[in-house]
Amino acid sequence: MSDKRKIIIDTDPGQDDAVAILLALASPELDVLGLTAVAGNVPLHLTEKNAMKICELAGKPDTKVFAGAVRPLVRQLVTAEEVHGKTGLNGPDLPEPTMKLQEQHAVDFIIETIMREQPATVTLCPLGPLTNIALAISREPRIAPRIQEIVLMGGGLFEGGNVTPTAEFNIYVDPHAADIVMKCGAPIVMMPLDVTHQALTTAKRIAALRALGTRVGVATAELLEFFERFDEDKYGTDGGPLHDPCVIAYLLKPELFKGRFINVSIETASELTMGMTVADWWGVTKREKNATYMRHVDHEGFYTLLTERLARLP
Ligand code: RIB
Ligand code: CA
Repeated sequence: MSDKRKIIIDTDPGQDDAVAILLALASPELDVLGLTAVAGNVPLHLTEKNAMKICELAGKPDTKVFAGAVRPLVRQLVTAEEVHGKTGLNGPDLPEPTMKLQEQHAVDFIIETIMREQPATVTLCPLGPLTNIALAISREPRIAPRIQEIVLMGGGLFEGGNVTPTAEFNIYVDPHAADIVMKCGAPIVMMPLDVTHQALTTAKRIAALRALGTRVGVATAELLEFFERFDEDKYGTDGGPLHDPCVIAYLLKPELFKGRFINVSIETASELTMGMTVADWWGVTKREKNATYMRHVDHEGFYTLLTERLARLP
């Protein structure tokens, strides 16, 4: 009986998604049951390809990759090529994947897996818009009480938004999906901008990754050097926030993070604040608490973990 933690990573690679996937594939504590691609940073036909490119970069071509939603539940797709580049994985020159996409739709894979595995033994790790997760919960509501935990990257309060003044990209792209997920009743841990903005890809940290001298170390440095330029210009910092790997780091070393169990509600009506995560950090409402909202990370410990784990890949 494996004591590995079973996870499904739902993803829209994306350079930071790529580093999160590498971290997961490098960590023996985790059993990555599959990657489910979703439209987000770039359209689905690219996120599904990028997910496979990363699996092959990690030397794990047997990882199962499934294609999911091609667009949000209600709104038009908004992408982020200005951040991630035309391919969504600009930086290193990674070869076209030779592994094949799974036939099964991602949403069916999520439902089938959670209904098959023992209750509370599968963790969902959404790193992009929550469309696939919301579709799975809507299509088969019985999965919600069977999910061990949803550990997602998304939202922001004290840091504001990154795609509008009030909304973070993953939530903004599909606020209706986020609303369904936040109300589903499964245990939720959120990694919002408030915590990811503390985990900067400084020059020293990228140099340490490049110094690994491995295919993965050099490619990760190249991914992050491309990815960070947008946020360095915007925030004037040494490095940019490293969002998605915070989700996987939490699974490996939860003590790196500190937060609070609060209510988080999603704005789905006002165009002005569409996709805002209305996080009741100070408990001023009577709204039912539904998420552990992280606000602090030991960023030195985070990068030590990340670098040590990536060193294990080829
Ligand atoms: O706002 C940051 C999030 O949006 C990250 O998941 C990044 O990959 C993009 O999807
Ligand atoms: Ca992402």
